[in-house]
Amino acid sequence: MRRKIVAGNWKMNKTVDEAVDLVRSLKEKLAQGPVDDVDVVVCPPFVDLVPVRDVIAGSKIGLGAQNMYWEDAGAYTGEISAGMLLSAGCSYVILGHSERRQYFGETNATVNKRLKKAFAAGLTPIMCVGERLEQRQAGITQAVVEIQVREGLADITADQAKQMIIAYEPVWAIGTGVNATPEQAQEVHRFIRELLAKMFGEDTAEAVRIQYGGSVKPDNAAELMSQPDVDGALVGGASLKAESFYEIVRAASQRS
Ligand code: PGA
Repeated sequence: MRRKIVAGNWKMNKTVDEAVDLVRSLKEKLAQGPVDDVDVVVCPPFVDLVPVRDVIAGSKIGLGAQNMYWEDAGAYTGEISAGMLLSAGCSYVILGHSERRQYFGETNATVNKRLKKAFAAGLTPIMCVGERLEQRQAGITQAVVEIQVREGLADITADQAKQMIIAYEPVWAIGTGVNATPEQAQEVHRFIRELLAKMFGEDTAEAVRIQYGGSVKPDNAAELMSQPDVDGALVGGASLKAESFYEIVRAASQRS
């Protein structure tokens, strides 16, 4: 059985002091009510990574970044490399979030370059895919997601794919308060898993963890994550408060 993974995508929120406060509260909650069967990850802004790393040292909370560039070093003003993320304590990196695609021109091809670098560096990528509202309304959700997965994972081996995380995040559900229904999520997650089976074989498809993201809240998390192919959540807004993020982690636990 796949272990659930709940990751908090803080986006462009939290100063250093606020980040430290938030992760301290989360760590306390997890110490008082441990949830041992769920991987918990926080993905703060770059400047918060090191201070957050220092707070979570010795805990089971994992650290991830929200993006990275594929070159190792050099004249790329404003960018961050995989090596820098590793040195800041990251084990995960979110790649191809829809906000990066929408506002910063990322494409499946650039997501693929980042993904290859993440694997080469030993970071676990969380690759985001998902359709926009008009694409769902036009009935092309699966076609859109298929292209994102195929092109995003071009030249990736089955052994690499096995270790990664895919986040299905319908764009119309992100930050809107309108989550996909558990059935809608399950349908696309199943589709992604079948696609992975065609691309990499059954074993790999069964191993890949597929998170759902888009308006996950404490009151809808358990139902979404009870779907057979929903292996966790990528949480934006509700990860900005320790209480609500912790409740979502608890909802992911089989023992809760
Ligand atoms: P949301 O964001 O939970 O605020 O909808 C999810 C995401 O963008 O990862």
